[in-house]
Amino acid sequence: AAWLRYGALPAEQAAAYSIKTVTVLGSHDETSPVASAVRELVDGVSKILGVTVSLTSDTSSLSTSIVVAIREDYLAAGNTLSASATDFLDHTDGYWVDPQKTLILGSDARGVLYGAFAYLSQLAQGTLSSTPFGSRPRAPVRWINQWDNMDGTIERGYGGRSLFFEGGRVVEDLSRVKEYARLMASIGLNGIVINNVNANPSLLSEECLSQGVKRVADTMRPYGVRIGLALNFDTPRTLGGLETSDPLDAGVVAWWGETTKRIYNHVPDMLGFTIKANSEGQPGPLSYGRTLAEGANMFAKALAPFGGFVFYRAFVYDHHLREDNPKNDRANAAVDFFAHLDDAFDDNVVVQVKFGPIDFQVREPVSPLLARLKRTKAVIEFMVAQEYMGQQSHAVYLAPEWKTILDFDMRVDGRPSLVRDILSPDGPFGWPVTGYTAVVNVGRDTTWLGHHLAMANLYAYGRLAWSPEAGARDLLDEWTRLTWGTDPVVVETVGNLLMDSWPAYEAHSGNLGIQTLCDILYTHYGPSPASQDGNGWGQWTRADQHGLGMDRTVATGTGFSGQYHPEVASLYENIETTPDDLLLWFHHVPYTHVLKSGKTVIQHFYDAHYEGAATVQTYPGRWEALRGKVDNARFEHVGFKLRYQAGHALVWRDSVCRFYHALSGIDDDKKRVGHY
Ligand code: GCU
Repeated sequence: AAWLRYGALPAEQAAAYSIKTVTVLGSHDETSPVASAVRELVDGVSKILGVTVSLTSDTSSLSTSIVVAIREDYLAAGNTLSASATDFLDHTDGYWVDPQKTLILGSDARGVLYGAFAYLSQLAQGTLSSTPFGSRPRAPVRWINQWDNMDGTIERGYGGRSLFFEGGRVVEDLSRVKEYARLMASIGLNGIVINNVNANPSLLSEECLSQGVKRVADTMRPYGVRIGLALNFDTPRTLGGLETSDPLDAGVVAWWGETTKRIYNHVPDMLGFTIKANSEGQPGPLSYGRTLAEGANMFAKALAPFGGFVFYRAFVYDHHLREDNPKNDRANAAVDFFAHLDDAFDDNVVVQVKFGPIDFQVREPVSPLLARLKRTKAVIEFMVAQEYMGQQSHAVYLAPEWKTILDFDMRVDGRPSLVRDILSPDGPFGWPVTGYTAVVNVGRDTTWLGHHLAMANLYAYGRLAWSPEAGARDLLDEWTRLTWGTDPVVVETVGNLLMDSWPAYEAHSGNLGIQTLCDILYTHYGPSPASQDGNGWGQWTRADQHGLGMDRTVATGTGFSGQYHPEVASLYENIETTPDDLLLWFHHVPYTHVLKSGKTVIQHFYDAHYEGAATVQTYPGRWEALRGKVDNARFEHVGFKLRYQAGHALVWRDSVCRFYHALSGIDDDKKRVGHY
């Protein structure tokens, strides 16, 4: 149920409402999102108000009915609309709710469903506005990527096995898939790529498409969620029996054309394909001496007749990079590979860019590629799965980190260009197709993500993809009221704890922009500062006995800072203007370098690690205040996780402090780390 619990309001609050029925205008079949909206209202309002609400076609008692309609049907019934309602209803997926008249309108079927969820959300939180309100999304692409493998495992999944696949095929029972679509719709998400970007070619076998993929699409469609597929570039060779997968080979082009047609036979409204190519050992156009654009356009041409899009991932880099060359830098890769191709991509190609230049670290600057593509459309990629962020064994609320990205001003051509505006059709580049995707990786665990508190991240992600200007704390409080109840003590406690969680995690796992100091080689979990360097992955810190940090300046380093537009480039090029929290991302400094705070880098490391770990130590005690205020099963589950996290934070603190103490030989002023 996650945040769709529809907990009962206190009787005296519920008594203020006289809703008895739901009335729907126009005719809609069972698979329409309007039908889902009606079912949701009947169920939700009944539970929240503790009454029995039913669906009626009798229009004589509208005063006690919620009236639900697509705008056209509402107008066709002789009604009129205010200018403010029209503002929202003119946009795809927009809605308008008038609580006085208990009227829910959508610009289209999906808008009706979003309006119904917005109404239910406010009703359940006890915050239903008395005046009419409307909303519409800032961006059309609001998607999820699942990294599910066909054998039922999930790459970087920490919530159990796949909802979609098992034993090489799509599972029989798709009831959890339906629940997932419902959760997605309730936060405005409208698309999902259901399989791993490291894609298995046999996904495209006729059996899998007709028996499996089609059923998944049919299950999610009533919630306005469309599906996409991640494809393996080499499928013509490995599944199709061709001799090559060269994107300019006529046989390959024909094969993808036929295959795409076959896919659309089963899923006529499919969104398109996500492609990870020439990345981390995956084949791609470069393997055949072709450009990335030639590779992407091959798929684009196959998809064009069906209105589909290619989401071509910018996560292309060399993972055998040599550290002995000081100019080498993985962070440069996305711009190096893509920026010069800005004019080369077909219209239905969208480049999918991870939010930072490396890989979902605890702190990264914004990927400069988001300001370098102008004619080529792009979407941003976030990660709800906490791969580098404690893997759902740690509670870490990520929305504050995402906000630092979305609110950042890229100063394209010297003009205001917030990332959240770039990612909107009304932004500086005017991309009609743009927006958001996030790797989520829910699994069969009853908590979805393996930790009840991790669901705040999924909730906030969906809400930010819809309204990127929303505040991290406001979204968190919404989620808490819906998930844990409206008791102010609960809302305060959960809110304060989770708002502390990203800064605390950063402090004990990778401060000053050094990146998450976890094990790089295998797990991406737990402290291992030594594993950052000395390998080809390029998540380097260049730590030695004198100092640490990557010199990414144009003047003396890898030149990465020069990939930004001039004002941002100069901010990062100069050590004086680089914010402390990205210092070691952009500069190599001695341990004794003095920060803006007046502390040396090494003393900051020690202090931050002790402070961060100390904050995490407070979590179990703070959670204890909720005993009896939330149900016992979830209370115990979260309490157990928080005690583990408190212990692990100490392991982090001591491992990182001792590593840099041993390397630098500099003792801690406060005599916690070192020889005294
Ligand atoms: C990370 C992650 C991989 C994943 C890759 C990607 O590197 O560790 O498991 O395949 O990102 O985004 O493609």
